[in-house]
Amino acid sequence: MQKLAIQGGNRLNGEVRISGAKNAALPILCASLLTRDALQLGNVPDLNDVATMRKLLQQMGVAIEANGSQMALSAANIDKLEAPYDMVKTMRAAILVLGPLVARFGEARVSLPGGCAIGSRPVDLHIKGLQAMGAEIHIEHGYIHAQVPTGSGGGRLKGARIFFDLVSVTGTENLMMAAVLADGVTVLENAAREPEVVDLAHCLIAMGAKIEGAGSDTISIAGVEKLHGASHRVMPDRIESGTFLVAAAAAGGDITLIDARADILENVLEKLQEAGASIQAAGSTINLKMSKRPKAVNVRTAPYPAFPTDMQAQFMAMNTIAEGSAMVVETIFENRFMHVQELRRLGAQIEVEGNTAVIKGCAQLEGATIMATDLRASACLVIAGLVAQGETIVDRIYHLDRGYEHIEAKLSALGAQIRRLK
Ligand code: UD1
Repeated sequence: MQKLAIQGGNRLNGEVRISGAKNAALPILCASLLTRDALQLGNVPDLNDVATMRKLLQQMGVAIEANGSQMALSAANIDKLEAPYDMVKTMRAAILVLGPLVARFGEARVSLPGGCAIGSRPVDLHIKGLQAMGAEIHIEHGYIHAQVPTGSGGGRLKGARIFFDLVSVTGTENLMMAAVLADGVTVLENAAREPEVVDLAHCLIAMGAKIEGAGSDTISIAGVEKLHGASHRVMPDRIESGTFLVAAAAAGGDITLIDARADILENVLEKLQEAGASIQAAGSTINLKMSKRPKAVNVRTAPYPAFPTDMQAQFMAMNTIAEGSAMVVETIFENRFMHVQELRRLGAQIEVEGNTAVIKGCAQLEGATIMATDLRASACLVIAGLVAQGETIVDRIYHLDRGYEHIEAKLSALGAQIRRLK
């Protein structure tokens, strides 16, 4: 199993290019299933989750050509309407093939994701939405089997008004993709407002979909009979952006993100300023300067535009060495504090009660061997390693490779002492 060895104590300085967003690329790759024409994508990040999605789509019959961050996908010959268990278990986002398959072919078989480390994460909202659009759904042998009765409208979903009890990002994306080819108008209420939902909507609109309101909590989709090919550039990754900024705020330094977007990071940037960082955004660059020990900052996660759950662990790492105490409240996932145990191994002082962690900043962490438990927890441990005294070994970094493109190369270029142990 691969590990990262980090020698802590270096400041971070220089420029780093931000990759395409994982959470935008994954649904957009699935959107290729909605048409028999080619979908041309740019800025696709080189990540294990993207490789897994590519393999899944290829298994279904999608022809894919990739050249660096460019990818062309053609779903002209789909012969398998199924996402098997071994794919869904490694990457929950595989559930995103469900909406497009049912929309275009009237049928799909997708494995239930099951539990995952950060919580139970059911997909009931995806299922209920498809049922409201006329799909018949049976759960059999651990699979969701969705079928649109052929009697009425020849296996085509029907527009419906769908209210989400909880804000769900992939739920919104799945149903938006289902609705673009449905008969009639679908209105998604209490929809996710995440920028990745908007990026998917832009791609679908370029393919001929009629979507209004993406980015607000009410999205209206007028179904069309057919979509066509299009070109789309995947938006920059706001979580990768935030992770580098927090790393520099914790370790100190002067870094500039290239190809980033400040407008979708407002909450995170405000918190970094509160911690004492100076931030300048201009065009597609964001500069952060930090010359002192950070101040502890309270964080409460909630759906966009509030503070992202995917940045919670990284801020926790910064708070461990900050001046003062801070409270971190996680409201999205019930078990997203697994990094706490590992941070404690480095000497961090953290108490957890329910969904709240109280962190008392200490002057110094001490390097140790720690284990990554999920994707964003891994980023948190890397940040902790960058500020800890001596060597930190982060084990099980396959989680990190799911969502961060060439992270050790990017951090090394900024002056960190970090290397991969194979
Ligand atoms: C997406 C992101 C993930 C991020 C999360 C929250 C992708 C590929 N992943 O995950 O990085 O951490 O949003 O911003 O974009 N829920 C239900 N029933 C459902 C669906 C969700 O109860 O049918 C619950 C979940 O258990 C969770 C909450 O709703 O407690 C939000 O989850 P959701 O927004 O769906 O997360 P994902 O889309 O899986």
